[in-house]
Amino acid sequence: MNSEIIISLEHVTKRYKVGDGDFTALSDINLQFKKGEFAGLVGPSGSGKTTLLNIIGSLDSPTEGKAIVMGKNISALSHKESAMLRNYHIGFIFQVYNLMPVYTVFENVEFSLILQNKSAAERKKAVMESLDWVGIADMANKKPSKLSGGEGQRVAIARAMVKRPDILLADEPTANLDAKNAHAILQTMKALNKELNTTFLFSTHDEKVMGYLDRMIHLEDGKIREDEIIPHKLSV
Ligand SMILES: Nc1ncnc2c1ncn2[C@@H]1O[C@H](COP(=O)(O)OP(=O)(O)O)[C@@H](O)[C@H]1O
Ligand SMILES: [Mg+2]
Repeated sequence: MNSEIIISLEHVTKRYKVGDGDFTALSDINLQFKKGEFAGLVGPSGSGKTTLLNIIGSLDSPTEGKAIVMGKNISALSHKESAMLRNYHIGFIFQVYNLMPVYTVFENVEFSLILQNKSAAERKKAVMESLDWVGIADMANKKPSKLSGGEGQRVAIARAMVKRPDILLADEPTANLDAKNAHAILQTMKALNKELNTTFLFSTHDEKVMGYLDRMIHLEDGKIREDEIIPHKLSV
């Protein structure tokens, strides 16, 4: 792993307007992530995990402080520039994977490559490779409604990874999965992290996920309580 810093948060604070007042969802967050990390934001519901992932993913911006992602200050990006950052560099996996129901698995995964103006031949190669990574190449022509929960989440991983993003943000990705599927998906993500050197950043309060992480940032009431490096285990 090289030591390139690809995410840097400096005094990030996020306040939401609530009625007449403000609610502070994140308070003075200082954090850096290097290329290739496999890290998680952990903490109870409401601690600010999703808010922080959304800022790193340039879906939202800080009220105060700076979020530098791939060398760009996300608060300074135009709408188009932040869309470009996401299209080329950042993949998202959500708890609810939101596949487009009228499209096949192949087409769902292909979509971001159309946004990148890739040729049909390039798209086909990349989509099939991506489905192969997650072990569902034989399901390319199925509709999402024919998939199990575990298979649907595999498509979501393939969709996020097909553009070979530098950063993969996964917001509670195992929340709707049984233990067997959760472990299978975590092993797949860990293998992709190693093979492609993609930086994975999770939000989770699932113990199963925590068992795979190399680093856990504990959030509580929008603050970092502890930034913990996990010694390497024999699992995986
Ligand atoms: N758009 C919003 N407006 C007001 N409050 C919000 C908004 N989004 C999140 N919050 C509040 O910010 C806090 C952190 O939320 P969130 O980042 O979703 O936490 P987590 O993902 O850890 O459960 C919660 O108290 C939540 O209610
Ligand atoms: Mg959340």
